[in-house]
Amino acid sequence: MTTLDQIMAVMDEAFEPHWGEAWTRSQVANSLAMPHTYALIIDSTGSLTLTAGVREPAGFALIRRAPGEEELLLIGVRPRFRQHGLGRKLLEAFFSQARQSGADRVFLEMRANNPARGLYAALGFEQIGRRPDYYRLGDGSRIDAITFGKSV
Ligand SMILES: CC(C)(COP(=O)(O)OP(=O)(O)OC[C@H]1O[C@@H](n2cnc3c(N)ncnc32)[C@H](O)[C@@H]1OP(=O)(O)O)[C@@H](O)C(=O)NCCC(=O)NCCS
Repeated sequence: MTTLDQIMAVMDEAFEPHWGEAWTRSQVANSLAMPHTYALIIDSTGSLTLTAGVREPAGFALIRRAPGEEELLLIGVRPRFRQHGLGRKLLEAFFSQARQSGADRVFLEMRANNPARGLYAALGFEQIGRRPDYYRLGDGSRIDAITFGKSV
C-alpha cells in the first residue's frame, strides 16, 4: 500500500460526507507531491510511520511545512479505532516533527462545531482566529472556521 492508498483508506471512512471535509485522491496526491507537505500514518497499535509500510492504517495526519511553522491540513482516524489515543499520538508526533524541522509554532483550522476541538484544547491549542461562514456545506449552508495555534 502506498502512502496515498493508506491515507485514502482512512479518508473514505473517517469523514462524514455532510461536512464536505474529506479530500479527493487527486487533492491528496497533488498535496503529497509538494516538497513541503508530508503525512504521518498510524496503525491500530499506535505505531507511527512517515512512509508507506503500515499494514492496516488506522489514522493519518497531513502536514504542511513553512519557515518557522507547520500547519495541520487534515487529521482522521477510522471510526472503529477512535477514543484510544491515536489522534492524540498523531498530533504529538506532528509537534515533535515540527520541532525537529526548526518550527516553533503549529496551526490548524477546523469548522466551528467540530468535536475534535476538545482534543485540540487538551493538547494546548488556543483559538487565534475565526473566519465567518468560511466553509460551505453540502446543503449550501455555511459555517465559521476557527484557527488554532500552539507553540511547540
Ligand atoms: C478528531 C479525531 C482524529 C480524533 O481521533 P481519536 O483517535 O478518537 O482521538 P483520541 O482518542 O486521541 O482523543 C479523543 C478525543 O477526541 C475528541 N473528539 C473528537 N471527535 C469526537 C467525537 N465525535 N466524539 C467524542 N469525542 C471526540 C474528544 O476530545 C476526545 O477526548 P475524550 O476521549 O477525552 O472525550 C477523530 O475523531 C476523527 O477522525 N474525526 C473525524 C475527522 C475530523 O473531524 N477530523 C478533524 C478535522 S480535520
